Amino acid sequence: MTRTAVDGSSDLAASRDRIASLVVGRERELELTLAAVAAGRDIVLEGPPGTSKTTLLRAITEEWGIPLMFVEGNADLTPAKLVGHHNPARVLREDYSPENFVPGPLLEAMQRGGFLYIEEFNRAPEDTLNTLLTAMADRSITVPRVGRIEALPTFRVIASMNPYDNVGTTRLSTSVHDRLNRLSVDYQSAVEEERIVALRTDASGPLAERAVTDAVAVTRATREHPDIRQGSSVRGAIDATLVALRLATLRDVGAPDDEAYPELFHDAMIVALSGRIHLDEAAETTPEAVLREIWEDRFILEPHKAAPG
Ligand SMILES: Nc1ncnc2c1ncn2[C@@H]1O[C@H](COP(=O)(O)OP(=O)(O)O)[C@@H](O)[C@H]1O
Ligand SMILES: [Mg+2]
Repeated sequence: MTRTAVDGSSDLAASRDRIASLVVGRERELELTLAAVAAGRDIVLEGPPGTSKTTLLRAITEEWGIPLMFVEGNADLTPAKLVGHHNPARVLREDYSPENFVPGPLLEAMQRGGFLYIEEFNRAPEDTLNTLLTAMADRSITVPRVGRIEALPTFRVIASMNPYDNVGTTRLSTSVHDRLNRLSVDYQSAVEEERIVALRTDASGPLAERAVTDAVAVTRATREHPDIRQGSSVRGAIDATLVALRLATLRDVGAPDDEAYPELFHDAMIVALSGRIHLDEAAETTPEAVLREIWEDRFILEPHKAAPG
């Protein structure tokens, strides 16, 4: 916990290095995000799910010793949900008072000096966005019958947006865009994704190593397939690896060259990936059929790619 970094002092570089040690790759994204928040600014991270957004924010807020609060942007996120509300039962008994006000995540983040992380920000209703913009501009908020709440200096708003989202970014007014910094994040390289999967699955040994390589390869192939609108993130590869290793235990498969391994891996792919890929509306196929194709490409047509060594 180094508060000095928050002020943009010379500790910032040391702070960046400590955070970097908790994250696989992403040096540039970390540095740019850190520069924006250390400069006292709010930022939108634009990228598909599973591209390290939460990982980066968690690492930064832990380094700063401040809370990270999550809110999901959707049509139900009213200004009252974001700011807070008076407990209706207590209002009936005792009338309105600051004591029976239940703070929402925006108020809590301001009072505790945390990051308010609004995922799928573009899906929040217009009046909620306006409330947020006002809080960002003023660094304080006035709540009827409660009073004025000043944000601690480390309060930031971090928004995220999925570029594949149907509820497009065009919905957001230029006044919203004009108030935020922006960083686009994309998928990492195959090598980095393998390191992430190995880290998150604690995989070791020849079978596990093979499963990690295969899981990352087929997951990346879902992002290229012509019938898929949005493929799976590294989360799918993490789960495919974990499921494959449990299946190996159940089916008594102990080595990657076991003849039962390819079919076992296919089954793990179905479980881990079929719900995570989103087909093109026009595609006349199923997630299972598309995954079978991807599996055949790797295990039958080009098995040398998959072979160990
Ligand atoms: N660069 C990274 N270093 C370490 N783990 C990562 C990295 N990127 C993603 N992960 C892991 O992948 C999963 C999804 O990452 P996350 O940061 O939650 O994505 P997002 O918030 O963009 O949806 C998590 O289990 C996380 O631990
Ligand atoms: Mg996330």
